[in-house]
Amino acid sequence: MATIFSGIQPSGTPTLGNYLGALKHFPELQDDNDCYFCIVDQHAITVPQDRLKLRENIRSLAALYLACGIDPEKSTLFIQSEVPAHAQLAWILQCVSYIGELERMTQFKDKSQGKDGVSAGLLTYPPLMAADILLYGTDLVPVGEDQKQHMELTRNLAERFNKKYNDIFTIPEVSIPKVGARIMSLVDPTKKMSKSAENQKSFILMIDDEKQITKKIKSATTDSDPTIRYDKENKPGISNLLSIYSLCSGRSVEQLEKDYQGKGYGEFKTDVAESVVNTLKPIQEKYYNLLESDKLDDILDEGAAKANRVAQKMLKKAEKAMGLGRKK
Ligand code: TYM
Repeated sequence: MATIFSGIQPSGTPTLGNYLGALKHFPELQDDNDCYFCIVDQHAITVPQDRLKLRENIRSLAALYLACGIDPEKSTLFIQSEVPAHAQLAWILQCVSYIGELERMTQFKDKSQGKDGVSAGLLTYPPLMAADILLYGTDLVPVGEDQKQHMELTRNLAERFNKKYNDIFTIPEVSIPKVGARIMSLVDPTKKMSKSAENQKSFILMIDDEKQITKKIKSATTDSDPTIRYDKENKPGISNLLSIYSLCSGRSVEQLEKDYQGKGYGEFKTDVAESVVNTLKPIQEKYYNLLESDKLDDILDEGAAKANRVAQKMLKKAEKAMGLGRKK
């Protein structure tokens, strides 16, 4: 039995990219592993958030995790800020991080370039992510491709700490899906689908309705060569739609290429939209039911209690290894 950890930021409603790259793969892991799934609200505040909106997004993300099939009997679902050991270990890991390596992180460069008033938290975000993972003795972290660099840093920080102080951290492996690890924007398919993009047509939110989904997919950028085939370089838009369709229908990309030989983009897009709607609709139904029930708070309370018990132990080990406090 392996220990698994993953997190999602409550910085808005998750997109189809978050679902296909990460969330979709979580439920299948929980039968045979010890899983921790986290709403990483402290990561979200590295950029300004509206207080009331953030609180709403935290609840909404918890409901979405459950609606996607996270079973609180099998997995630990919790909110990062309700387990103080995350911020405490993050401080320790900041003290073993080098400014240079944090400045080299692509996400930091993307989010800070050309901006005034960039928070220090945006720079020290990766040690907090490392703390999330290392507190639980995590073996495996399922994430989308954009988190690969953060995962490499997490492994480096763990190895550095183990070598310098005491061998206490498990070095985690990363698990990135073969298809859908990077779902692209529907408007500019050379860029990642992101909920923070300005153009609403570039992403599908997990709670978009049938009309919105169909409209966005029908207006997705394609190309002038009418064949439906996977070619990321020359046909990024069609390739992205093929990945989405494959994951939502369970048919392989090769199968879809065969099935759509000689067919037009119009018919293809209608079918892609239908498969996305069919994938998200049952999740949305469960989601709205959960939002209205008080079950959600009980689940999150229990999750925080369990996470606190486990995380405290590792935090104490790390503090002891570094000589913090009085106890030997
Ligand atoms: P976040 O909140 O940006 O995204 C959550 C998960 O969704 C994946 N993802 C995508 N996958 C495919 N295509 C896309 N367009 C796409 N956009 C996002 C992300 O790779 C991620 O798996 N730093 C993390 C949150 C985090 C975390 C952790 C993750 C904090 N601590 C510990 C794992 C373990 C983040 O910002 O994800």
